[in-house]
Amino acid sequence: MREYYTEQTGFYGSSKPSELLKEYGSPLYVYNEAILRQRCREMAGLVCDPAFKSNYSAKANSNKELLRIIRDEGLHADAMSAGEIHVLLAAGFRPEELLFVANNVSQDEMRYAIEAGVLVSCDSLSQLRQFGRLNPGGRVAVRFNPGIGAGHHEKVITAGENTKFGVNIELICEVKAILEEYKLKLVGINQHIGSLFMESTPYLDSVKRLLSIAEQFEELEFVDMGGGFGIPYHKQEGQERLPLKETGRLLTEVIGSWTRKHGRDIKIKMEPGRYVVAECGVLLGTVHAVKNNGRKTYIGTDIGFNVLLRTVLYDSYHDLEFYRNDSIIKSGETSPATVVGNICESGDIMARDRELPAIVEGDLIGIMDAGAYGYSMASNYNNRLRPAEVLISTDGTPRLIRRRDTIEDLMRGFEI
Ligand code: LLP
Repeated sequence: MREYYTEQTGFYGSSKPSELLKEYGSPLYVYNEAILRQRCREMAGLVCDPAFKSNYSAKANSNKELLRIIRDEGLHADAMSAGEIHVLLAAGFRPEELLFVANNVSQDEMRYAIEAGVLVSCDSLSQLRQFGRLNPGGRVAVRFNPGIGAGHHEKVITAGENTKFGVNIELICEVKAILEEYKLKLVGINQHIGSLFMESTPYLDSVKRLLSIAEQFEELEFVDMGGGFGIPYHKQEGQERLPLKETGRLLTEVIGSWTRKHGRDIKIKMEPGRYVVAECGVLLGTVHAVKNNGRKTYIGTDIGFNVLLRTVLYDSYHDLEFYRNDSIIKSGETSPATVVGNICESGDIMARDRELPAIVEGDLIGIMDAGAYGYSMASNYNNRLRPAEVLISTDGTPRLIRRRDTIEDLMRGFEI
């Protein structure tokens, strides 16, 4: 028996999918506040140590309203660009609650963070030197490559041998020399080994490595272990969740025994993105055509890869639901069909050869677990409008939290 996520969670609150699309347009990102808050709490309590803090990695979804809720749940945040810092500050985060995890940034971007009072983490010797020249005597963090990577696709493994990220462990002496030269105070070290692991061993191993690097630096105030915590994208097949409690218990043990052994009073941080927001988001759309090309059945929707890029970029899998008269279509014979969007490329595929019931024009589609790296990677390719975003509040009512693009938005920038 398949599990239907929106039914199990009462995802749409007091609304029906068709009402939401009628009110806010199709396609539409829909978020559920109760699920978001639940995931924030799980992360906030991951390690049993009063000095533990979970950052949220804003790149996964930087809708201002969602950021406000995440802050309300007590998380801090990391940013990857001046733009993310700007939005996080606008959402109410204080500068000291942010870490700018910089990668190959310009002097201007670095200066922006310094002037805003946001701590910068440099991930190469050359950027650390540039930081030193801009802000001699300042506080700084350094991102290390612990030598272990993990992730759902080679494109998102961000540590280990083949990666542009982080400073290699062998360069610790050079790091120390630059700190000395510019009188910088190294207050934190961080890592991020990659995105989406479903079993915790590589993460725990990398945590041990980062802690051993921490032993080399006495002034550290925090060690940030990065994100990467996976979510089950195959819920309909009964995929197990990442054992988060067990992972938290093991992390608490590893960190506790390290702090006892070294007598260090240090703050431990993590920076999950996906885990916090993926499951609170469903992408709703409309079926506009069904056709057979050769032996293949194509279900043509208004969800192109300008709206959700993950399936095209990483061959990612998302569970699907189809709705007719606002009920999930569950019964009937199934046959393989490929779900596509409305973009001018054959690669515009949301789901390949899925066993689906007979779908007809006018049916609605829901793409599950679309809250992370959905809207944040959306674009105006083909001059299509990015969708609106709606939040189902804890009382079940919907609220618009970002309007749909307008045709005028497409003309922005030409008024020169
Ligand atoms: N910290 C740093 C420095 C990162 O680069 C990332 C993600 C995170 C934290 C959060 O990772 P998470 O907990 O979300 O796995 N677009 C891809 C994922 C790219 C992740 C990039 N960095 C996807 O849709 O799967």
